[in-house]
Amino acid sequence: MYNLVQPRIICMGSGALRSLEQILLQMDPKSILIVTGPTVQRLGILERALSSMGSFKNRTEIFINPRPEPDVAIVEDCAKIVREKGYDLIIGLGGGSPMDVAKGAAVVAVHEGGMRSLLGRNLLRRKGIPVILVPTTAGSGTEVTQAVVADVPEEGTKKSIWDPRTMAEAAVVDPELTRQMSPRLTAETGLDALVHAVEGHTSCYANPVSRIYTWEAMGLIGKYLLRAYKDGSDMEAREAMARGATLGAMGMTNSGLGAIHALALVLDQRGFTHCQSVAVLAPWVIGFNRLGHEELYAKVAEALGERVQGLSAEKASLKASDALLRFLDEMGISPYLKDYGIKSDEVSSLALKAYQLGQRLLPMNIREVHGKDVITIFTEAHGSEGK
Ligand SMILES: [Fe+2]
Repeated sequence: MYNLVQPRIICMGSGALRSLEQILLQMDPKSILIVTGPTVQRLGILERALSSMGSFKNRTEIFINPRPEPDVAIVEDCAKIVREKGYDLIIGLGGGSPMDVAKGAAVVAVHEGGMRSLLGRNLLRRKGIPVILVPTTAGSGTEVTQAVVADVPEEGTKKSIWDPRTMAEAAVVDPELTRQMSPRLTAETGLDALVHAVEGHTSCYANPVSRIYTWEAMGLIGKYLLRAYKDGSDMEAREAMARGATLGAMGMTNSGLGAIHALALVLDQRGFTHCQSVAVLAPWVIGFNRLGHEELYAKVAEALGERVQGLSAEKASLKASDALLRFLDEMGISPYLKDYGIKSDEVSSLALKAYQLGQRLLPMNIREVHGKDVITIFTEAHGSEGK
């Protein structure tokens, strides 16, 4: 038995933003808050969204979230404004950060006790204010997930509200909005999307339907990420990436994550962005996970576009981490922790900290992970062995 959750409306494809007014007519809000970020505003995407809202534009106000990674304080600030001004619809427009703030504010605004009291699994007591999410990157997939992720500064880590009641009412996925992403942002967000698809596909809790989404997502991202990186105006690639990121997250939110996201939490504390953390660890965790699960990782390698015909499962599964290393190399992102200022004598302590912080997510990983395994993974990821 497995449950499947997703937004009530998912509007995808080039020009999807123009459907915003139709969606709003169905929901008929009295006053709307758009949560967005400074870059989205600067690039003119906020203006495009407003002009797709018809007369609803006149009952809309704007909340600018300045943080590249959201924290509890910004979610609570936004929730306070929502409660005080009585907005009955929130639109999250941007990358993962403004969308998470929008989703978080929507549920925090209708609960007493603040966001901290809601962190964990299925702790919400009621549905939040309706939310429409409009991603401007092809990465986080939060437009279709049942989670809100935020930094909890006093604990030094990210935590999430994981609950189907955080799910957006509508997701509007328009690849035109991703066209202006820089190559660097395309690379990093695309790798996060790729990791969602791979971890969702290989999670202990994957099911036959979630695997349809993650399989398709791996194929799309494997084929089109480098094209989108090399030529941001390649709209066939942008369209495929937008679809891949959303489908991968739909699969992942109905299955789970794994050791890449679990162990990446420690790197967030060291100044890595979320996307960098998962990208750097991905090849090494996949290399660890494939042992005992060669058939599954041979399929991952195949989905990512590696040549596996005629190879044994053992040999084909090795190509899953090769694929990740190839992507990182072609996009100029080092897979080695030593290149991010991590010293070799800190590897063991960092690994043990990663093991502690990752406890919530590690049980979803396909292969059981012990503290000594994390030291092995981090030693390999450091890239200084034998040098
Ligand atoms: Fe992620």
